[in-house]
Amino acid sequence: MKEKLDKIRNEAIYTLDRLEDIESIEAYRIRQLGRKGELTLILKGMSSLSPDERPIVGEYANLVRNEIEQKLKERASLIERRLLEKRLNEESIDVTLPGRTFGRGGLHPLNIVLNEIINVFLSMGFSVAEGPEIEFDYYNFEALNIPKNHPARDTQDTFYITDNILLRTQTSPMQIRVMEKQKPPIRIIVPGRVYRSDAVDATHSPMFHQVEGLLIDKNVSMGDLKAVLDTFAKDIFGPTTSTRFRPHHFQFTEPSAEMDASCSSCKGSGCRICSYTGWIEILGAGMVHPKVLAGCGINPDEYSGFAFGMGLDRITNLKYGIDDIRLLFENDIRFLQQF
Ligand code: PHE
Repeated sequence: MKEKLDKIRNEAIYTLDRLEDIESIEAYRIRQLGRKGELTLILKGMSSLSPDERPIVGEYANLVRNEIEQKLKERASLIERRLLEKRLNEESIDVTLPGRTFGRGGLHPLNIVLNEIINVFLSMGFSVAEGPEIEFDYYNFEALNIPKNHPARDTQDTFYITDNILLRTQTSPMQIRVMEKQKPPIRIIVPGRVYRSDAVDATHSPMFHQVEGLLIDKNVSMGDLKAVLDTFAKDIFGPTTSTRFRPHHFQFTEPSAEMDASCSSCKGSGCRICSYTGWIEILGAGMVHPKVLAGCGINPDEYSGFAFGMGLDRITNLKYGIDDIRLLFENDIRFLQQF
């Protein structure tokens, strides 16, 4: 009997030393020590032994059982330790490696300047509206007092889609759309894309951006227009900027004017940027024509107002000293990263 038990123990030790994973060790434990295990069967069969033999065999069988259990534990923990070591080696992280960097996005210069423009007008009580780029001839021209066949249409080389649908050549159609819907007082600015069939060069692009402004209320005068636009110019080009208004003509304003700002690079003394005049043309403006007001159902005897329109691309280029409008649309990352 002792020999049999020794053999079981030796075999167990031999086998366990060759098992390499936790699952097979567990399977082996069940096979040896489980209810049908060899050792268990011996212990169960003890009743057939003589009373003298029983305690001796029992003691020895228990000893063997303990030894096997001990061996099982040792082997299992050894394998677990090896597994952990292997995992730690594989998953090791070199915290001294440089991190992966991501390219950082930024605002396009047009958006930087547009945000500044929006902010100065918001501070004067204006709100922002937007309108369609595909527009009816009626809003782009007719309602702005530019009838069909009027020579004023020639100055705006228009992309027509059909006879009465076009790509808007200016943001001014939004004046009409807003006045048709909203009763005075009105104070809005309208940023957006506009289109003219121009050949591309350093100062022309078939698509560019305007910011329109419209203020309608009782007793609005040309003095209000000058105050608002002078405030705008000082905010965008610096507090020492001065402005001047030159008479001009637009079909939908009367009187009309163009506003110049003193050149911010030479402070008015004359340089290449201002063509040695000291002044830079910034925008067109005027008092909204009574015919335009009336056409929108606003009584010109009761209300008056002013409108203005500026080229965002031009203002952006002036602010940053960019000498070619194409740079704004090519989206060369080396250019954009400079802002
Ligand atoms: N829409 C005009 C243009 O594109 C600018 C303008 C707007 C003039 C509003 C007067 C009033 O040239």
